[in-house]
Amino acid sequence: MSKIHAVVTGIHGYVPEYVLTNHELSTMVDTTDEWIMQRVGIKERRILKGEGLGSSFLGAEAVRGLLEKTGTSPDEISLLICTTVTPDMAFPATANIISDMVGIKNAFSFDMNAACSGFLYALRTASMYVESGDFKKVIVVGADKMSSIVDYTDRTTCPLFGDGAGAVLLEPTTEEYGVLDHIFQVDGSGRKFLHMKAGGSVKPASHETVDAREHFIYQEGQAVFKFAVSNMADTAAAIMEKNNLNPEDVAYLVPHQANLRIIDATGRRMGIPSEKVLINIEKYGNTTTATIPLCIWDFEKRLKKGDNIILAAFGGGFTWGSVWLKWFYDSK
Ligand code: UT7
Repeated sequence: MSKIHAVVTGIHGYVPEYVLTNHELSTMVDTTDEWIMQRVGIKERRILKGEGLGSSFLGAEAVRGLLEKTGTSPDEISLLICTTVTPDMAFPATANIISDMVGIKNAFSFDMNAACSGFLYALRTASMYVESGDFKKVIVVGADKMSSIVDYTDRTTCPLFGDGAGAVLLEPTTEEYGVLDHIFQVDGSGRKFLHMKAGGSVKPASHETVDAREHFIYQEGQAVFKFAVSNMADTAAAIMEKNNLNPEDVAYLVPHQANLRIIDATGRRMGIPSEKVLINIEKYGNTTTATIPLCIWDFEKRLKKGDNIILAAFGGGFTWGSVWLKWFYDSK
């Protein structure tokens, strides 16, 4: 029997309406549009406003749009995986809440957390369910309301992040398309450079942790940058080498959107020209787990059946990795 592959048969994204510009940020902290554009490449980011709305709201909007766009009934979905570092609550899983919000009832669902690499880890995990032959329609949704853990008095982190979600539908095929290979790595010792100090089981929330502003992202930017720039570039080059893909065989690189300088270095290391590197960091900033699906969604119309796409990410953990995705449909 031929091997089953998991192909992406639809993609949809959602970003909230509110646009937080560099100009507005410069009225909140000591920063400038020039600094943010030169060092990071972000012009604006989206922020989810509104009482009681969390990552599930973002994720549900993306999944609803995906179901509608692909003509899929919620009853046909057998598994939904949500990746997030900003779950609605510690439990239940945000995946369970999204399933309820969109009417998915004949499925099981769970969350994965691999920070900025979360979407790639979940895409591979979901594709293995599809490859088993037992799952016909599976959704992976990456959703992060980063504004819920950003300290808007800290100029070193507040320009970087935004809110958003992206979702894909995976289905089986015996043709040579879809999620064809991956390389994933982790180095948990990197957690000291990028984490949230309180609110977990090590340091539950207390008056002291709130007063010490420990429920926000803590990042040592330069240290993270050094690891990110080498590891993301290496993993993207490594998956090409492993699969004998030359730069001309690669249609697009879709990199995690954390810093334009990291993205440029990754493209250079792969030997591919800048027009093959898909970038939307200027519009949304770093939406953590949502950057890669949001970027594919933004450029979906360019994609053609058979395009070799390299996805590459680096993030908290540290986690990093790359995926070789052969695109399955001509997008209109
Ligand atoms: O997605 C998860 C993984 N995360 C990443 O990949 C992020 C990796 N790190 C980075 O992208 C960069 O390190 C940052 C964008 C976070 C920072 O850029 P940098 O070029 O590494 O800047 P820096 O931290 O070395 O700071 C340079 C200067 C400092 O001033 P002094 O000490 O040279 O006087 C900072 O205080 O820039 C200052 N600075 C700012 N100035 C204006 C830091 N933040 C700002 C700001 N506006 N927002």
